Amino acid sequence: MELNRRTVIAGAAAAGIAATTLGTGSAEAASGGRKPVKELFGKLADGTKVYRWSLENGGTRLRVLNWGGVVQGLEIPDRKGHYANVSLGFDNIDDYVAKTPYFGALIGRYGNRIAKGQFTLDGKSYQLSVNDGDNSLHGGKQGFDKHIWDVEPFTKGSDVGLHLHYTSVDGEMGYPGTLRAKVTYTLTKHGDWRIDYEATTDKATVVNLTSHVYWNLGGEGTGTIEDHELSIAAGRYTPTDSGLIPTGELAKVAGTPFDFRKTKSIGRDIRAGHVQQVQAKGYDHNWVLDKGITAKPEHVATLRDPRSGRTLKIATDQPGLQFYSGNFLDGTLTGTGGHTYRQGDALCLETQHFPDAPNHPNFPSTVLRPGQTYRTSTIHTFGC
Ligand code: GLA
Repeated sequence: MELNRRTVIAGAAAAGIAATTLGTGSAEAASGGRKPVKELFGKLADGTKVYRWSLENGGTRLRVLNWGGVVQGLEIPDRKGHYANVSLGFDNIDDYVAKTPYFGALIGRYGNRIAKGQFTLDGKSYQLSVNDGDNSLHGGKQGFDKHIWDVEPFTKGSDVGLHLHYTSVDGEMGYPGTLRAKVTYTLTKHGDWRIDYEATTDKATVVNLTSHVYWNLGGEGTGTIEDHELSIAAGRYTPTDSGLIPTGELAKVAGTPFDFRKTKSIGRDIRAGHVQQVQAKGYDHNWVLDKGITAKPEHVATLRDPRSGRTLKIATDQPGLQFYSGNFLDGTLTGTGGHTYRQGDALCLETQHFPDAPNHPNFPSTVLRPGQTYRTSTIHTFGC
């Protein structure tokens, strides 16, 4: 049986465990959640202070850094009301600066890869910062994940949240135009985590913002996600070359390990030997969502951990979903709870436009022009 969040909170409250297991936020959720609280998390080498914001609503607890807009922790209950942090991260800023593989971070200006870091727009060629072999990945050497964002807390009706602002100057990482980005993290009274992205530019540019949370619904540091069950509403995906750059083809998933239209465990076909999996060391591809671009977020994927019963449903207005099965985690990073992360200990589900779209006229456009506002939204709904 799948319980919704309200059932669990009501049940836990009835059992008298609200104060210890769920924290005070559960009691306040009905009246609009708990006001975000700020504390010092650490300092960058130049002395800049890094803060951590904690917020809670509807039974979901979120911890966010002003560095990279990083989700440093996200706690949700299992079917017995036991909380776990289901997002990989570190307990200190030095590890984030030195070695994070984008744990929990906001990604910009461009989620995923741009081939050779090059593209042409309105007849002009641009060279971006290259940081993944020959290619530009997640915005280049110092993407949006490696900057301090201005954070402004809010409570609005029954919602609590944070507005995060970052202005990327003209030419930063090679991208044209000054890009003013605003990202809003909202926790709703039902415990949903919603992300609203906005951006404007003063010159024609390309933009593709996303969030890089590494999910393990059993709890970070508890081992593999291969037994998690996943469904993705996509009949096609974008195959890549050996550098993980899309070839341009929109290939059918039917009859391949990439078919997640019916729920299956991630481990079921991950070793099927398909050439696309061999070169990516697992799943690291963009699924072409059947619904395409939509005016409002629509449900596109469900992830479930059968052991804890925790579920995550993703709704987005975006046309693509990058499913990355944590292939590059290699046992060299020790996370928030003191456990080492190994290959496949988490997965990412990044809602986005397609990788390398600026070099593929057949992909939905990522061009943003002066006078336009880039706006996209993704909603994460948790259950158990
Ligand atoms: C994305 C990419 C992966 C990898 C991770 C970060 O999901 O598609 O290839 O670079 O980010 O390690």
